[in-house]
Amino acid sequence: MKTIGMGIIGTGGWGAMHARTYATTPGVSVRAVADMAKARAEELAGAYGAKAYGDYRDLLADPDVEAVSVVTPDFAHEEILIDAAKAGKHILAEKPLAMTVEACERIVAEADRAGVLLMVDFHARWSPPLCKMHEAVRKGEIGEPRHVYYRLNDRIYVPTEMLSWAGGTTVLWFVGSHAIDTVRWLLGDEVCRVYGISRSGLLSGRGINTPDFYFSTLEFRSGAVAVIENSWILPNSAPNLVDVKCELVGTKGALYMDATHNRALEKYTESDAGYPDLFVMPTIHGRQQGFAAESIRHFVECVREGKTPMVTGADGAIATKIICALEESILAGKPVELK
Ligand SMILES: NC(=O)c1ccc[n+]([C@@H]2O[C@H](COP(=O)([O-])OP(=O)(O)OC[C@H]3O[C@@H](n4cnc5c(N)ncnc54)[C@H](O)[C@@H]3O)[C@@H](O)[C@H]2O)c1
Repeated sequence: MKTIGMGIIGTGGWGAMHARTYATTPGVSVRAVADMAKARAEELAGAYGAKAYGDYRDLLADPDVEAVSVVTPDFAHEEILIDAAKAGKHILAEKPLAMTVEACERIVAEADRAGVLLMVDFHARWSPPLCKMHEAVRKGEIGEPRHVYYRLNDRIYVPTEMLSWAGGTTVLWFVGSHAIDTVRWLLGDEVCRVYGISRSGLLSGRGINTPDFYFSTLEFRSGAVAVIENSWILPNSAPNLVDVKCELVGTKGALYMDATHNRALEKYTESDAGYPDLFVMPTIHGRQQGFAAESIRHFVECVREGKTPMVTGADGAIATKIICALEESILAGKPVELK
């Protein structure tokens, strides 16, 4: 099997996750990493025997690198993605693809022009319970989907401690983009009208200029309706970093998913109580597992076999278009039609 040379741009928390996944995937080698904080790049590179760059352009010029993961903050994707496509590298882009519709269009056009693969890492499409829901909908087991409730919330730790740049994004971009993609994928349908509500105060009171939460109503062409809840203010005592729920009701049945409080494993220690993550990114016998790793391995498979990824740049652009329409709706205080 030919070894694929990977580069990782952005070596923070999630870039390290990409590196762990590549390092435990056969036929892949982490050849180089880049971060504007070069010391961070050097630290990660040291763990994998890779080259470290302070400027991502030097990584893109490296002939040992065939494909890249772009794992920089939400607002710092466009320029890097366009330069990566121009350099002829296949691209796994972290979500959101970019934060304006125009930027997404420029990225997709450049990847098409360069003939490189462009995948957006909406990894919930590899979540086992969501995949089983998707299968049930496709088989018609619940009839015509009519309404969906999707909750994807984080502990307040995420905007206040985990991300140094939470004020440069929102919970709607950070996790809402996943939820929007998941609902589109589950329903196999497109959004035609949106209505959004958000509230601020708790985070801004702590000096982080970003809303506390969003409630988004999405109307689909079929008439199905989704309500998505995205909050960044769950208490740090919540039993898991992420709280995820999904309820999908159709004309002949219903599906209920609780990936957080599923009680497959409860852990109580003298100082802590919780439900450890079993689905997203558990490390098992030293190998990175979970659906976050599955999506990254899917990208590798697509590069190897020249296949179109299950989540394309077009999917990333649609999620961005929906979020921009929601932001417009929140400002206007009324629903917004999607063109
Ligand atoms: N799929 C998921 O569930 C998931 C989870 C976490 C983060 N993410 C996404 O991954 C991306 C990174 O998030 P993170 O949590 O790792 O953030 P982070 O702050 O931990 O890391 C970001 C890194 O990017 C570097 N950086 C910033 N601008 C750069 C540039 N121009 N060139 C090179 N390096 C640059 C920073 O120095 C930092 O080391 C975001 O888009 C985020 O939404 C996705």
